[in-house]
Amino acid sequence: MSSFFITGTGTGIGKTLVMTALCRQLKASGKTVTALKPVISGYDPKDKNNDAALILKSCGLAPSPALMETIAPWRYAAPLSPSMAAAKENNPVDMQALVKFCRDHAALASDAVLAEGAGGVMSPLTENETMLDWMEALGWPAILVGGSYLGALSHMLSAFEALKSRGVRLQALVVCESERSTVSLTDTATATERFLPPAIPVVKLPRIGGKDALWKNAPPIHWICE
Ligand SMILES: Nc1ncnc2c1ncn2[C@@H]1O[C@H](COP(=O)(O)OP(=O)(O)O)[C@@H](O)[C@H]1O
Ligand SMILES: [Mg+2]
Repeated sequence: MSSFFITGTGTGIGKTLVMTALCRQLKASGKTVTALKPVISGYDPKDKNNDAALILKSCGLAPSPALMETIAPWRYAAPLSPSMAAAKENNPVDMQALVKFCRDHAALASDAVLAEGAGGVMSPLTENETMLDWMEALGWPAILVGGSYLGALSHMLSAFEALKSRGVRLQALVVCESERSTVSLTDTATATERFLPPAIPVVKLPRIGGKDALWKNAPPIHWICE
């Protein structure tokens, strides 16, 4: 059984796209997948394309409110960092309970477990803890998602250094082509790769079309979970 944490350099970068592509492809290759979005902000249960709904659909499950609540126990309506949203809703994330939630799912899983973070590597989760603290406590290898916009190189390498500083192993870097990027995806991936240890795969994810078809059109990336 393998467990991976999908993190990113920030919000809106492509984490859910990568998650859903991985879920779909792992399932298609005959694996069972447990997919979690434990902490979600900006959550609207009626939005058919909220992260929890997209993730469930990519696992071949109908996104009922009960199932969304199962994979995303810490839900916040405000589109803010979890720490800010939790303060507004007076419902802080309990790190110990969060780590236990992930581990309990991993204990029951037979093949792959994927958990998507919220925001970027250093997004605040509580008043004094970040996503990085969560990843460190969990100890799962990370799949880092970055972009190809001007400035993305520094963001990806900073995120890598932050992960390394806490002993979080980087399983792969996925460079997700940014919308209207002025920098080439291949050049960005090649430049980033030079600064990473050679064993870490750098995967290019080009722009892919069709709102609902997005994850269906992703190139094969499930091998990064092997
Ligand atoms: N390579 C891509 N091609 C097309 N659309 C993309 C791509 N990467 C991200 N998107 C779109 O950008 C938006 C933000 O991506 P998402 O995966 O939700 O980011 P995150 O989970 O990091 O917040 C979504 O609408 C998603 O479909
Ligand atoms: Mg997301």
